[in-house]
Amino acid sequence: MPGDKSITHRALIFSALTVGKSRITGALGALDCLSTISCLRRLGLMIEPAQGGDGWRKISTCGRLDLVVKSRGPAHLDFRESTRNGPLLLDAGNSGTTMRIMSGLLAGLPGNFALAGDESLSKRDMRRVLDPLSAMGATVTYRRSEGRAPFIIGGGNLQGGRFDLPMASAQVEAALLVAGLFARGKTTVTTPARVRDHTLKAFMHLGIPFINEGLTTEVEPLTGEIAAKDFTVPGDISSAAFFLVAAAIMPGSDLVIPAVGANSGRGLVVAVLRRMGVEITYANERLVNFEPVCDIHVKAPDSLTATDVSPEEVPLGIDELPILALAFALAKGRSKVSGAAELKEKESNRLSAICKNLANQGVKVEEMADGFAVEGSAAALLPGGGVWATEGDHRLAMTGLVAQLVAQKPLELGDVSCIDISYPGFQADLAGLVAGE
Ligand code: S3P
Repeated sequence: MPGDKSITHRALIFSALTVGKSRITGALGALDCLSTISCLRRLGLMIEPAQGGDGWRKISTCGRLDLVVKSRGPAHLDFRESTRNGPLLLDAGNSGTTMRIMSGLLAGLPGNFALAGDESLSKRDMRRVLDPLSAMGATVTYRRSEGRAPFIIGGGNLQGGRFDLPMASAQVEAALLVAGLFARGKTTVTTPARVRDHTLKAFMHLGIPFINEGLTTEVEPLTGEIAAKDFTVPGDISSAAFFLVAAAIMPGSDLVIPAVGANSGRGLVVAVLRRMGVEITYANERLVNFEPVCDIHVKAPDSLTATDVSPEEVPLGIDELPILALAFALAKGRSKVSGAAELKEKESNRLSAICKNLANQGVKVEEMADGFAVEGSAAALLPGGGVWATEGDHRLAMTGLVAQLVAQKPLELGDVSCIDISYPGFQADLAGLVAGE
């Protein structure tokens, strides 16, 4: 699998907090993480492909990238000259994680930065992170529309505080904890439900102190230097999810996906497929930089059984709900997902897109304000034909390609080039697997 997107973003951004040279092995070489890399390079961090020279040219096809990072610590980031005549422009592309976690770092730096993104990212809510950062003392000016990119953030004078987040967002939690490392006093962040804990695992790996109790995490300002450390990034469970579901819905499948992240904060897809009757086992379980990693073995069941996804479970696999919806469509019985209004806040409105795409396949779906219900057909195949909209959203496009495998007629699939956002080469990997390569 390509490197884990969430862990790659964090390994990169947190390396700006460290001093020294480090290597990130197996980083995700896809557009979202390239956005993070380009923002950090503009701030003066040295990031190069480990194989040197023309390494950047290979990244669009491999999905895994080894990087060398050299950092002199946050106090020596080299942006002052370039911000003399106005804010330094940083482009987060399509990546919400880049924009939000970078905002936390930028709020801690004494400069002015203009953050911009593509059309989809410019529609997404940034208040969730910029309101608490403003409360800490960052100055935020929206350039076009309130609460959305592009915006200018001025940092460097932060006061810690207590933040009870209204939404279960690991991105916002990460941004505030990073900002807290630069703030005066303590910064305490509480999430309303459990979220992926890659930030805390990376902090442990780097020796950045924090206190965590349940849903609450507290940091204090960094005092000494944090020494740079190598990261090894596991395969991305969110990318593996497409193969797990493909295996679950294609009779006779028997698949091993090696070296995938098995963080329980990302455990929804495996838990749900197991409940649906799919045999999934973990082998070779180990910890890599505090992150659980394993080889995942999946076998197609004779039939799939419907299941519900509860609100507490949703943050443990919000990105996997589009592909899980496809499994629900072929299961026996009614599956219901609730507490998933956050689906509307992603790269597209995934809630309505999931429902429309399945409805176009003749599947009975009910769209609710905070989720959806699917009446499974218990059939092995979808009728096919009909529009499968991708809306420039990588996860909808990958779901469409998997749906195509079980469609009687070709789908009218939208543009799939957006898959490069998280998994360049997905189409070829899927086709190779189906061909038994
Ligand atoms: C991410 C957290 C999730 C997820 C996103 C990556 C992260 O977003 O949807 O793809 O790396 O922290 P939220 O935590 O904001 O819901």
